[in-house]
This record gives sequence, C-alpha cells and structure tokens, in this order.
Amino acid sequence: MSTPADRSKEKVIRRGPGKTLITLRVNGQEHRIFVEPRRTLLDAIRKDLGFTGTKRGCDEGTCGACTVLVDGKAVYSCMALAIEVEGKVIETIEGLEKAGTLHPIQQAFIQEDALQCGFCTPGQIMSVKALLDAHPNPQPTEMKEALAGNLCRCGAYPKILQAALRASKQGGT
Ligand code: FES
Ligand code: FES
Repeated sequence: MSTPADRSKEKVIRRGPGKTLITLRVNGQEHRIFVEPRRTLLDAIRKDLGFTGTKRGCDEGTCGACTVLVDGKAVYSCMALAIEVEGKVIETIEGLEKAGTLHPIQQAFIQEDALQCGFCTPGQIMSVKALLDAHPNPQPTEMKEALAGNLCRCGAYPKILQAALRASKQGGT
C-alpha cells in the first residue's frame, strides 16, 4: 500500500492526461511543445514541428515509412510516444542535408535511382544511416536485415540495396 509520501511523489512524476510541455531534440535543435501523453512521435514530428519528410504509411508499425533515429537507432515513430523520447537525440530526414549538400546516402539513392514514388525513401534512408553509423562496412546480408522493416510498394528493393552498398563504399555516414 502506498504511503502519503509515495503518493505525493507520484503527483510530481505523473503527467497528463491533458497537454503537457515537453522538449524534443530534433536534428540538433530543441523544440518545446505541448502534447498529450498519448501523442505519437510521428504526429509530434509532422504536425507539431512540421518535419513532413517523415512519412505516415500504415500508422501501425508495419511499413517503416515513419522511420527516424532515436539515439542512433532506427525507430518507427508511429509506435513511439513523443513524451517517452524527451531528452533523446532524434534525427529525421531533414537533418541529413548540410548547407545545401545532400548526405552521401541521399546522393547514393539518387545515383542508383533507388526509388519510384519515393514515399518509402526517407524511412529507407534513415534505416541505412542507422546501420552505417554503427557499422560502416556491413555485409549485404546485414544491409538486408537493416532494411527488413522498411516496405517498398513500388518494389525498388534491388536498387535500394545497391544504393546502400554504394553509400557504405563511399563512407556515407
Ligand atoms: S507508418 Fe509507422 S510503420 Fe508504417
Ligand atoms: S519507392 Fe514507392 S514505396 Fe518505395
């Protein structure tokens, strides 16, 4: 049974169910926003912060279109709550280009023509980035595993894999 002291501690920790102020670190910048605790990271990124490069496909943790990096790991942002990634390092596709120059992985996707409609592409690129940041010289099988959670309805898989391999050869992280 909880004591009055425990209950007063809970009051400090509990947030919601109404909107609460959180700080998200996205692409090197801090953003303070009010969100309900149930708000997904995907909605916070797209609707509250306007980073619409992160796509909503299935919204149920299946397609990978919403992939972003959280502390370097590829995460389905539709399956994470914004409030639970407060204080972590979040990277979206918008953070890759620097001073007008595309990231080497983005360039590799263009060079290999690794897309058709492009809807899955931001998620694919973020998954490749997570892998190359951790393992700069992966084997093709490791590439396939890293991309296994990213579906492409256009079926551009062979070229996506080629782009990932090109990026790793070019030291693209
Ligand atoms: S939109 Fe998140 S996995 Fe499909
Ligand atoms: S390029 Fe169209 S879904 Fe992948």
